[in-house]
Amino acid sequence: MKRFKNRDIIDINDFPREELLYILKIAKKFDPVFVKKDRSNYTIAQGKIAALLFFEPSTRTEQSFRSAAQKIGMGTIGFNDPEATSIHKGESFSDTIRIMDAYADVLIIRHPEAFSAKTAADVAQIPVINAGDGPNQHPTQTMLDLYTILKQFGRLDNLKIALVGNQKHYRTMHALSAAMFKFSNNKIYGISPKGLEMPAEFKHANYFDEPIDMRKLNRKLSEIKPDIIYAGRIPKEYMKGDVKKYSYQIDKETLKCLPKSTVIMHPLPRVNEIDPEVDASPAAIYFTQARNGLYVREALLTLILGRI
Ligand code: NCD
Repeated sequence: MKRFKNRDIIDINDFPREELLYILKIAKKFDPVFVKKDRSNYTIAQGKIAALLFFEPSTRTEQSFRSAAQKIGMGTIGFNDPEATSIHKGESFSDTIRIMDAYADVLIIRHPEAFSAKTAADVAQIPVINAGDGPNQHPTQTMLDLYTILKQFGRLDNLKIALVGNQKHYRTMHALSAAMFKFSNNKIYGISPKGLEMPAEFKHANYFDEPIDMRKLNRKLSEIKPDIIYAGRIPKEYMKGDVKKYSYQIDKETLKCLPKSTVIMHPLPRVNEIDPEVDASPAAIYFTQARNGLYVREALLTLILGRI
């Protein structure tokens, strides 16, 4: 295993299986499900600063990183409205990064362009965390997805996962697909409208494209019998034209078509993909999934600051 101190987190493929498992093990130390006593973590990274540079909207990723940083004693700076910064005056992305690099100990960046986090890491001297680079990847979301799966099933192998929605432009599905093939015997079924299949670079031998008319979703799911349904929003900001035709919904009828043990995940925000009437079902683990993001991000910050 490479040292975590000062590492960038840009691409899920930079993390082999044993490193991912190590991150998940450290995340348990921050999770009240596993750590009953109230641990005082606020001295872990006291005096360090996290800069949150959000060039794109976010609720969970931004706020859970902010909370994670503060829970381990860090201060936070940054912005989520680039128009309120010198970018409005025409400052370049690289110059903005160079400046924030001087004021912080770690940069957490979300940006609408693919590979922008890599560009930032090339400019910055301090570690950079990719919090979503356009339609490319969202590696920390994947780490919390893996944590959620491990907590639920006790394993990351021998699982059948149905990805539902637009796989072509959906960064969390890209990185999750790539990550699941680091473990053994997983099968992934990409259920998407035709033309919105997973890009080749995120697929491996046991990836099965299942392009369908989304009105037939329940039938397809009853054939596949997945352990996990991983649903996603139709990311209209990266698509052209009318996207309404791609919409779908998982509802109580869908639950009837599934084995009792199937769980439903979603990185959130959902729009209409999951009927709120599903929320009360034990299959619905998407809010727990979002909660897990906090523990995984506390672990990541602790690790890359070298405080473990
Ligand atoms: C996702 C994202 O931003 O990629 N949300 C998240 O970070 N939890 C999914 C989305 O935007 O639909």
